[in-house]
Amino acid sequence: MRILVTGGAGYIGSHTAVELIQAGYDVVIVDDLSNARREVIDRIQEITGTRPLFYQINCADKKALQAVFAGNRIDAVIHFAGFKAVGESVKKPLQYYRNNLDSTLTLLEVMEEYGCRKFIFSSSATVYGPENPHSYREEMPAIQSSSPYGWTKVMIERILTDYTTAHPDFCAVLLRYFNPIGAHESGLLGDDPNGIPNNLMPYIARVAARQLEKLTIFGGDYPTPDGTCQRDYLHVVDLAVGHLKALEYAMDHKGVEAVNLGTGNGVSVLELVQVFEKVNHIKLNYVIGPRRDGDLPAFWADATKAKALLGWEAKHSIEDMCESAWRFVLHSNVQ
Ligand code: UD1
Repeated sequence: MRILVTGGAGYIGSHTAVELIQAGYDVVIVDDLSNARREVIDRIQEITGTRPLFYQINCADKKALQAVFAGNRIDAVIHFAGFKAVGESVKKPLQYYRNNLDSTLTLLEVMEEYGCRKFIFSSSATVYGPENPHSYREEMPAIQSSSPYGWTKVMIERILTDYTTAHPDFCAVLLRYFNPIGAHESGLLGDDPNGIPNNLMPYIARVAARQLEKLTIFGGDYPTPDGTCQRDYLHVVDLAVGHLKALEYAMDHKGVEAVNLGTGNGVSVLELVQVFEKVNHIKLNYVIGPRRDGDLPAFWADATKAKALLGWEAKHSIEDMCESAWRFVLHSNVQ
């Protein structure tokens, strides 16, 4: 079975490509490399022994995408490609809406042209917006977000729902990720954003590597046990496996399903910092600073649907996440 992975050179896409290849799927990656490196394809090959077919294209380029579908009989699509920096999306909303919506619409049009009816979408817990109480359950209204980035996820979920209503033999699984961190155990793949990281774990990793001076913990006065925000951090390899389970589900189902991928546990920023220090024997330079605009105090997943529907649950511990994230940095620095 041949799976198209858009954004397959990115952080979550590359880990998913590895799991797919190891499970026996043929993988075709399309990625415009706007926020990923070509060497990731070599590393996927190094881990799996198989080189995925790779096309450097943007999914909004219809002709190029048609050529990919014409040249490869694609059975299903896992769609990761998209801009993902929350803060940048506030400053450049048009770029975010144009890129994320155009690429998805184009992909759906080309899939329709080639009779491909299985779609796994990289959504986010951000679609639950600021109003829902946690833990978040899939039946809660998921119709609001706090940034243009998040709104593209809400809108794409809507597009996929409407499309599935119009095409009842289509299957779309909307995977709502919580906070993926960690790296592949080989140390060859991990989260390696361009520029100064926005997300917590890559920032911690750069401070640990002394590439950034100190971590600022955004807010120490939240109504949480230690005053710092709580999130549901999950290991990126668990998340990648979740995509395989969603794919297996989509292969013999129709319709649209939203599924949370999280552990179901909240961990605070301070707790994560302390676990990182402990398992990696590193002292992190950090200060507690003001709150960051738009951050919610605490949220995590209700992960029961993922287990019931997909037979998936997160297996890795916070320790594994912190250890593997650091191993990736050490490995990258000796390359
Ligand atoms: C955000 C987005 C989410 C997106 C995810 C990955 C929202 C509400 N959430 O999640 O949709 O999928 O990024 O791109 O838009 N922190 C610090 N110092 C730092 C960085 C982060 O203290 O230097 C804290 C934050 O305040 C937060 C936690 O670490 O409490 C996690 O932050 P981050 O990794 O950016 O993820 P989210 O904001 O939870």
